[in-house]
Amino acid sequence: MDARGGIGGNLAGLDLIAEINRLRKERNAVILAHYYQKPQIQDLADFVGDSLELSRKAAETDADVIAFCGVRFMAETAKILSPQKIVVLPDMDAGCSLEDSCPPGPFKAFREAHPDHMALSYINCSAEVKALSDIIVTSSSAETIIKQLPPEQKIIFGPDKHLGGYLARKLGREMLLWPGVCIVHESFSETELLKLKAQYPDAPIAAHPECPAYIVDHADYVGSTSGILNFAKTMPGDTLIVATEPHIIHQMELALPDKTFIGAPGGDGNCNCNVCPYMALNTLEKLYLALRDLQPRIEMDEELRIAAKRSLDRMLEMASSTVGKGDVGARA
Ligand code: 13P
Ligand code: SF4
Repeated sequence: MDARGGIGGNLAGLDLIAEINRLRKERNAVILAHYYQKPQIQDLADFVGDSLELSRKAAETDADVIAFCGVRFMAETAKILSPQKIVVLPDMDAGCSLEDSCPPGPFKAFREAHPDHMALSYINCSAEVKALSDIIVTSSSAETIIKQLPPEQKIIFGPDKHLGGYLARKLGREMLLWPGVCIVHESFSETELLKLKAQYPDAPIAAHPECPAYIVDHADYVGSTSGILNFAKTMPGDTLIVATEPHIIHQMELALPDKTFIGAPGGDGNCNCNVCPYMALNTLEKLYLALRDLQPRIEMDEELRIAAKRSLDRMLEMASSTVGKGDVGARA
């Protein structure tokens, strides 16, 4: 079996899955995984979820170690919320284009240029940007949170201009948008999506709100990864076109083996650009090593952690407990 992530993959004679299972018990570790992880990692995880659900799990767990199979801002969030735990990320290079698009210095200057605005930041940002923000949102909690703000409250929204633009259009609120994008969701092509729709005219389209408006406008449902998964479970018909990172289809196929899920193509239809290159850095081998060595570990300056926690705590307070099943909101 292929040592690079094949199911039951071996590394120098090791049964990685057995070793990971042994180490997670020895370390009293919980393995959290995002829906965009490789199937073999999702299958090993104690919990698979969207960004809000994973934050809640990280805040609640009584494990001593959190092995976070996702990207760095997610593992950082776990550390901010659970500072007494050891948080390991299998590959510390697992970043995010949205985080990269929003360096703290320019974001601080942007805030200072608009002192009468509140800063709402998408969770896909650094701890430093969280510390500069008033409230953090995820794609599943953003709408509920914005609706709780007085209509006259001016808002800066960063770093995702597509999510911000979608929320502004849907809620009829003007927001100043930071110009960041997710390189994965930005890669979907309207032409390719329409070709697919012509092939499957009865299949609804579910899209993540990180997609540009020219994709979201064709969607029957728009929501977070959990929201899309729930839509798949309740939709009429047996075929769904999925405009988000395609690894989420693994959970759909497990839950709904009789339905068909078709990933919307990226680029010209022939590239792999709808696969998140950052999420893909995590492998079974690296997860095994992270549990064995308790490295790479998230470490954070305590002053920064406390400052970043304020905006995350506000999200957890304002996101109703029913949210987290994922809705940015179904389109009418
Ligand atoms: P959600 O799982 O919260 O929808 O986020 C999607 C994403 O792109 C995470 O990086
Ligand atoms: Fe960042 Fe996009 Fe990858 Fe999510 S899918 S981690 S937003 S680059």
